[in-house]
Amino acid sequence: MTARIIDGKQVAESIRSELTKEVAELKKKGIIPGLGVILVGENPASISYVTAKEKACHDIGMFSSDNRLPATTTQKELLDFIEKMNKDPKINGILVQLPLPKHINEKDILTAINPDKDVDGFHPVNVGKMVMGEKAYLPCTPHGVVQLLARSGVKIDGAHVVVVGRSNIVGKPVANMLLQKAKNANATVTICHTGTPDIGYFTRQADIVIVAAGRPNTVTADMIKEGAVVIDVGVNRVPDSTKKAGFRLVGDVDYDNVKEKASMITPVPGGVGPMTITMLLFNTIESARTTAG
Ligand code: GUN
Repeated sequence: MTARIIDGKQVAESIRSELTKEVAELKKKGIIPGLGVILVGENPASISYVTAKEKACHDIGMFSSDNRLPATTTQKELLDFIEKMNKDPKINGILVQLPLPKHINEKDILTAINPDKDVDGFHPVNVGKMVMGEKAYLPCTPHGVVQLLARSGVKIDGAHVVVVGRSNIVGKPVANMLLQKAKNANATVTICHTGTPDIGYFTRQADIVIVAAGRPNTVTADMIKEGAVVIDVGVNRVPDSTKKAGFRLVGDVDYDNVKEKASMITPVPGGVGPMTITMLLFNTIESARTTAG
């Protein structure tokens, strides 16, 4: 079997065109959804992510406040900055790009964001609500994965999903979202991680495999059941002198071989990536709508 390629760019564009209409409707009522973006330091991947997030806001008619702070920014200065954004009525969503420099405590920062403006869904209040199946801002990458599955016609209800990776940003939240007794969920979920002696033993039983391990070739063809759906969340830079940038992007899955066995697969780039930003826009618009009442 050769897999159907799930085109994340196309699915993302279709959601963004729905969102563009919503922004236009809100503007008629005098509401302009606004995102406050904060980047501390100069991590090249982070610069590229936040630039894409800001551009995406402008493309659909939203407002963004773009803030680049030096790597020497103190925790107190960052907390003060967040407090200002918490109070700013033009800002409906606050995004502090991760990772933060080592001298800043990530947990303290994420907890300082007003949960009602936490469009990344990383605040403990939103994480708790999500786990309990209550309405909450859902973290963007896992939410994008679920939307990608649902909009590609993948049956999640009753499926066995194996998640590889247990990060707070992807693995844990996507597993929690898919096990809820809800629409686009109700799956049997297994989570594998660095403490799992034989990850293939579990992935071979999966109808859907979601890989967010942060390491190329974590999942190979021998680890996949014929006809499984494979979602690759990995974004790894590997040196490539034939590219202008000196590197190319690969996922966590051995794509060329796995695509011969899977029924559907996401490429890297062009799979999950475009969905992450789209769900960030979705959450910020939702926040603007909620604030407006
Ligand atoms: N770093 C990697 N992914 C993310 C994300 O989804 N949000 C933020 N804020 N930082 C990230």
